[in-house]
Amino acid sequence: STPPLIDPFARAITYLRVSVTDRCDFRCVYCMAENMTFLPKKELLTLEELDRMCSAFVRMGVEKLRITGGEPLVRRDIMTFFRSMTRHLESGALKELTVTTNGSQLARFADDLFDAGVRRINVSLDTLDEDKFARVTRWGRLPQVLKGIDAAQKAGLRVKINVVALKGFNEDELFRLTEWCAERDMDLTFIEVMPMGDLGGEDRVGQYWSLKDLRGQLRERYTLTDLDYRTGGPARYVRLEETGQQVGFITPLTHNFCESCNRVRLTCTGELYMCLGQEDMADLRAPLRASESDAPLEDAIRAAIGRKPKGHDFDYSRQRADGQVSRHMSHTGG
Ligand code: GTP
Ligand code: 5AD
Ligand code: SF4
Repeated sequence: STPPLIDPFARAITYLRVSVTDRCDFRCVYCMAENMTFLPKKELLTLEELDRMCSAFVRMGVEKLRITGGEPLVRRDIMTFFRSMTRHLESGALKELTVTTNGSQLARFADDLFDAGVRRINVSLDTLDEDKFARVTRWGRLPQVLKGIDAAQKAGLRVKINVVALKGFNEDELFRLTEWCAERDMDLTFIEVMPMGDLGGEDRVGQYWSLKDLRGQLRERYTLTDLDYRTGGPARYVRLEETGQQVGFITPLTHNFCESCNRVRLTCTGELYMCLGQEDMADLRAPLRASESDAPLEDAIRAAIGRKPKGHDFDYSRQRADGQVSRHMSHTGG
């Protein structure tokens, strides 16, 4: 088979995040402007092209695929794509197929995801208060998401909750969210808000709640044990001894984890971003469409990995989000 993907800093690239759509049925205030313009549908990779792309990466050593968006489950017929990835799980080449979702469509799709071979999912949920939920998502309905989470657990999917830490918004729900997850045997991860995309005047520095503070608050109520365990991802984990649950912290701004980065991200239009916090990307759609053979695509992938930078440039230290990256999180899939 093909040699593995190794970048210039000797990091093996074994994890691909794939955004299958830039669209979403919500408009979270830290993620999107209210009146987002989405890409024309014809710009998107087709489901067959997504399959070819992902299959090429799997051949080249990618062992974990995380499907993201936008909201991946609003893409039409997306279960066809999930089912097409099952063969890579069955062959053993792919170790894990996962998805990051806002949960709105889970009641419909939880069983299908499980049948396709998905075993763990991440669901974004920043508050347990219905009004606040409607505000942060601009019009999302909390009960629909809670129903989705129930359906996922019933289907046998392990659920991890993602909470974006927002100053003055969910600070007061730290314990409620933690307990709620513990009762349902769900892990959770707190995420620092990252400076991505122009939000039309939304003040992200004002929204910034340092996870150092958050961790300190947790320590007042729980015994925190650091876990060495990593997913190869950006989160560092602790165990809360009182509940046994695992809590992750994603702190791109206060703690840099680039040295162990194992991932690249594919956008829904076939651009490969080598780093979440950098603008450099490689167009993989042209080589994909240029030939029925995958050779040009594989060459383009290798060339792109050869440009993966050492780390990102996010920076809040000058009181402004100077390290701002202009593309939206929904474009690159987080
Ligand atoms: P694993 O796949 O198990 O590592 O889960 P995850 O927590 O990385 O995935 P998820 O899709 O739930 O992402 C949670 C948050 O992590 C999102 O806000 C992502 O944008 C962020 N994130 C994921 N990968 C990276 C990364 O390489 N760098 C930075 N700065 N943030 C990342
Ligand atoms: N900063 C941090 N996290 C974000 N997410 C979306 N936009 C941002 C941002 N600007 C989170 C979502 C979801 C994950 C994929 O990314 O809440 O949990
Ligand atoms: Fe949609 Fe997720 Fe962005 Fe919210 S954070 S608007 S749910 S893609």
